[in-house]
Amino acid sequence: MLHDQRPIGIFDSGIGGLTVTAAIQQALPRERLLYFGDTAHMPYGQRSLEQVRQFSEGITAALLERDCKLIVVACNTASGAALKALRARWPMVPFVGMEPAVKPAAEHTRSGVVGVIATTATFQTEVYASVVERFAHDVRVLHQPCPGLVTAIEAGELDTPATEALLRGWLEPMLAQGIDALVLGCTHYPIVRPLIERILGPGVRVIDPAPAVARQVGRLLVEHGLEAPATATGDIRCTTSGDPQVFSALMRRIGWAAVPVEQGHWSANGTLTLP
Ligand code: DGL
Repeated sequence: MLHDQRPIGIFDSGIGGLTVTAAIQQALPRERLLYFGDTAHMPYGQRSLEQVRQFSEGITAALLERDCKLIVVACNTASGAALKALRARWPMVPFVGMEPAVKPAAEHTRSGVVGVIATTATFQTEVYASVVERFAHDVRVLHQPCPGLVTAIEAGELDTPATEALLRGWLEPMLAQGIDALVLGCTHYPIVRPLIERILGPGVRVIDPAPAVARQVGRLLVEHGLEAPATATGDIRCTTSGDPQVFSALMRRIGWAAVPVEQGHWSANGTLTLP
């Protein structure tokens, strides 16, 4: 059997992709992970798809430069905007991306109404239109963009009255229309899942695709002969284009042990250099 000790590269616009990273670490504890949060450009969800694609290409190039064996686009917005282009530009590299989990929601619903919350940009992608078309035949899907929520989460406002008011404004009208499943279509949103669940109550199932994405990473590693050796111990290195200290403090806030965070730098011509 082939083995490969190179890291898995994972990226997002900020700390959101860490919700996917936690699931990968749990499922694949022997793997080395290299995470990049593009905090300097956050939020992606309010940018054009073209701009998000450019950032995603710059980040992927930098992660590959750091010898990553597989890339996880741990951001729904970047997956929708860029995954196709990334696969076309690097056909030999295995990629795993996010897509809103409309399929499990459609399978779960009894009321026939499901909700999806995601960024404004995600709802503009072909990927989103395609999951709804493929999986939501006899189901009504309510789409709700949540502008401002990612920024609030990155500011550490995880359970403040202001964040609760934002969420109530989006979720209560969906509840009134009878949803019994809610898809978290942005990797930042699981960070405020306790608050979301408190607002929705026990009758609504909240769906986070992170564990399924981690399983897909494991399948691809096996398929490509890229698994870490059985004796390896995994680790994680974190990098950000923002302030490493702020990033590290936020990580601890959301339950990570102290992980050293280093800074990556974007140049004026759109090249990212990672330490
Ligand atoms: N975490 C990202 C996602 O899954 C988006 C965040 C942003 O707007 O920056 O869509």
